[in-house]
Amino acid sequence: MADTHSNSATKVVSITSGKGGVGKTAVVANIGICLARLGNKVLILDADLGLANVDVVFGLTPAYNLNHFFSGETDLESIMVKGPHDIRILPAGSGLQSFIQLDSDHKLKLLDGLDSLNIDFDYLLIDTEAGISENVTYFNTAAQEILLVTTPDPTAITDVYALMKLLSTRYHEKHFNLAVNMVANEEEALDVYRKLSIVSNRYLDISIDYFGSIPYDRQMSEAIRKQQAIVELYPQGAIASAFAALAERIVTITSRRYPKGSVQFFWKQLLQADPG
Ligand SMILES: Nc1ncnc2c1ncn2[C@@H]1O[C@H](COP(=O)(O)OP(=O)(O)OP(=O)(O)O)[C@@H](O)[C@H]1O
Ligand SMILES: [Mg+2]
Repeated sequence: MADTHSNSATKVVSITSGKGGVGKTAVVANIGICLARLGNKVLILDADLGLANVDVVFGLTPAYNLNHFFSGETDLESIMVKGPHDIRILPAGSGLQSFIQLDSDHKLKLLDGLDSLNIDFDYLLIDTEAGISENVTYFNTAAQEILLVTTPDPTAITDVYALMKLLSTRYHEKHFNLAVNMVANEEEALDVYRKLSIVSNRYLDISIDYFGSIPYDRQMSEAIRKQQAIVELYPQGAIASAFAALAERIVTITSRRYPKGSVQFFWKQLLQADPG
């Protein structure tokens, strides 16, 4: 039976990008841990239905994934796996073709499943796939806050601009947050932010909040090899501080914009709002 109350204070943040490989999954995994360390109950939805890997980053090998849930083999609770710091993950599995594009039945099933989970989560982090597919726009519209990830790479910047343009013109999203990954220094990140702000101010009716930067760190590949999040592997490193700062920023922004008591869980409304 659906218990809408249990999810009433869950803050939903999507982590998304135009270009692939810019670090969305790294951001989700590490910020998830930092949020959990701050005492939050965190649920990660791996919405990269084609190429899932949140579970891999955490060194988990889930028996079931969203495909089993969508096919009716299991309920949502049964595919949920436990990661570090009691984080819960809903793994995507590497897609059966038929489930890669969510249709409205899938969406309804997912909304119902999320609504009837027995745990009170403070945060739901959604790791989206890259690009501008319908799944991407769907999950971003579902979230209360959209955290865009880009790198200083000009193609990554162009692609994140294209995503903002689509989300603002077609889906009426007016507010975005930006994290710049793989930077040499803060100035490089601020430069990316300035460029995107200038073009957006000129051509789109949106606002972008600068969320912060994440340094390029060669030890990331070691973390991937060891299947451990880098904030766990090197908690004292510069990149760990960067992820901690991003998590704190999420807490600040969401507690300011969505104070407890108001209805936070937007999924149900989305079904009507979804133009696709
Ligand atoms: N700050 C960083 N410094 C160095 N390497 C990084 C950094 N962030 C991410 N990486 C590496 O870049 C690669 C891509 O990162 P990740 O998988 O998180 O990107 P993604 O946006 O989720 O990709 P996809 O679009 O395929 O889902 C990974 O090998 C990851 O370890
Ligand atoms: Mg990814």
